[in-house]
Formats: sequence, structure tokens, C-alpha cells
Amino acid sequence: MKHVLSVIDLGRDDLEMILDRSAVMKKRYQQGIHDPLYQGKTLGMYFEKPSLRTRVSLECAVNSLGGGSVNLESNGPGILWQRECVKDQARVMSRFVSMVSMRTFSQAVIEEFAREASVPVVNVLSDFAHPTQAMADFMTMRERFGDLRGKTLAYVGDGNNVARSLLSAAAYLGVRFIWSGPDGYRLTDDYVARVKAKVPDVQFVEESDPVKAVREADAVYTDVWASMGQEGEAAKREQEFARYQINEDLMAKAPRHAIVLHCLPAHRGSEITDGVMDGPQAAVYDQSENRMHIYRGLFTLWANEWSPDNE
Ligand code: CP
Ligand code: NVA
Repeated sequence: MKHVLSVIDLGRDDLEMILDRSAVMKKRYQQGIHDPLYQGKTLGMYFEKPSLRTRVSLECAVNSLGGGSVNLESNGPGILWQRECVKDQARVMSRFVSMVSMRTFSQAVIEEFAREASVPVVNVLSDFAHPTQAMADFMTMRERFGDLRGKTLAYVGDGNNVARSLLSAAAYLGVRFIWSGPDGYRLTDDYVARVKAKVPDVQFVEESDPVKAVREADAVYTDVWASMGQEGEAAKREQEFARYQINEDLMAKAPRHAIVLHCLPAHRGSEITDGVMDGPQAAVYDQSENRMHIYRGLFTLWANEWSPDNE
């Protein structure tokens, strides 16, 4: 049984296995081939924060494999764990469901749940990481560019959960990662050191000038400037990030073949303009679609060789 709690802990081989399997499962989906691996089985979902893509793609993925889902949600940190502690919920849920997805504020909650669960757990966003997002993003890049080794991903924005997962995935897949944003929003030195410990030859560059950052990019990525839970800082961040907007002028400085990525939801007019979102370089809806194919790939691995019987 293998949990997916962060890209950095997952490692290169498992990351590549999920990407490869997801590509196969995408083809099968498009061909209308049904793989009823979860018939009579259920995915348990926890959501402490709002979601469109993750919630819907998880449900569609498990439905497409013949299974069902049950959702436990709250709107705020910790509320779901007040009535009953994480440990007991993990043990009880494991008696009912075949796998669990968790969107929480705290990464520690997901890790504790996973330690206590006897079914596999996937992190579908915490304040620390968004691993399945990064997988869908690199799946999208592979579809556009094939082998990704030597490609450049320029991430312009907050050094947040999404950025951390992207950096780890880039390191494992041999992609150069350029980060550009205001000084106070860098990826922490601790985190970069963890990535370097796993991948000593990681190509990680910090570039305060967004124009220089995108000059050699194959993909230009941005995310919201204030993540869920940081809404109180939104006005301050709008000012601090203003020169890091992905707009037509900035994209004119990037190579013409560069694609634009955003995990969504986007704040059009803030971190990205309408012109770029609706323009020919945007690959953002492919990213969204690929969220479902990543879950189909992961669930299939869980149902087959990653299951306890095969370890
Ligand atoms: N990108 C993403 O995780 O979207 P949701 O918050 O809508 O799930
Ligand atoms: N960084 C964003 C990603 C949303 C999918 C957030 O955490 O709100």
C-alpha cells in the first residue's frame, strides 16, 4: 500500500509510474473502455477547503472505474477533527472505504491519517503541497513536448503549495525550474535543500525579473497570489505581486512555443489576464482534464500492483 502525500516523498520512480499509467488510462477513457476495478467500492473524501476541479475529478474518476464516493466536508481548519480525533477517524474510515482523499489545511493531519489508515491515502491539497496537481501539470507538459528532460518551467508567483510540488516533480523529471516573484514569497531554503538532497543535480534558478525568467521557458506557470486561507492578505499581495502578472507583454518575451499553465481557479486580471487565459498558448483546461486521468491512473495502480497483496 502506497500513500501519495507529497511529490518529494513519493520519489522519481513512483511519480513516473503514475504519469505513465495515467496516460494509458486516458487513452482507455477516450476509447470508451471500461475498467470496473472499483465496483462495489467507495472512495472516502475529506474537504476542509473549497474545490471544483479536485472534487469533481475525483468523483468522475472513481465513478468511471465502477465505484462510488462519500464526502465529508467543512469550511475551515480543524472542524472535521473536533468531534473525533484524526487517528480514530482513520481507523474507522478504513473499515468502510477502499481509499481516501484529503484536502486539509495541515499537512500533518494528512500524514497522521495515513499512518493510522489501512487503506491508501492521497493528499489532494494541503497548505504544504498539491501533488496530484503537479502530476496533471507534468502530464500536460509531456503531452505537448514528449520527453521533458532539459525543458524549462518558469513559475512566476507565490512559492506556495503548488510551487513546492512543481519543483519536486521538475527535479525528478529533469526539468529546469525557474522561480520568479517578490523576495518575501520565495520557496523556503529548507524546502529547496530537501529537494537538493533527493536530486543533487536539480536545476533550480531564482530570478527576480519576470522577463528574464520567461525568456527560455517552455512552460510559464502561475497560481493565485493569495491561496485559500490567505484571503486577509489579498490586498497586500496584489500590490507586491503586481509586476509578476502573466500578461500579453510578458508572454511576448517568452518563446513562441511556450505554453501557459495555471492550476486554477484563476483570478483573471490579477495574476493572469483574460488575453492570456483565452489565448492560444494557454493549456489550462488540459491541466484540469488531466486531474481526472491522474486519479484514474493512481486508483488503477492502487487496485493492482500497489495493493497490499502485491507488496
Ligand atoms: N486546481 C485545483 O485543485 O482546483 P480546485 O481547488 O477547484 O479543486
Ligand atoms: N495555491 C492555491 C491552489 C488552489 C488549487 C491554494 O492553495 O489556494
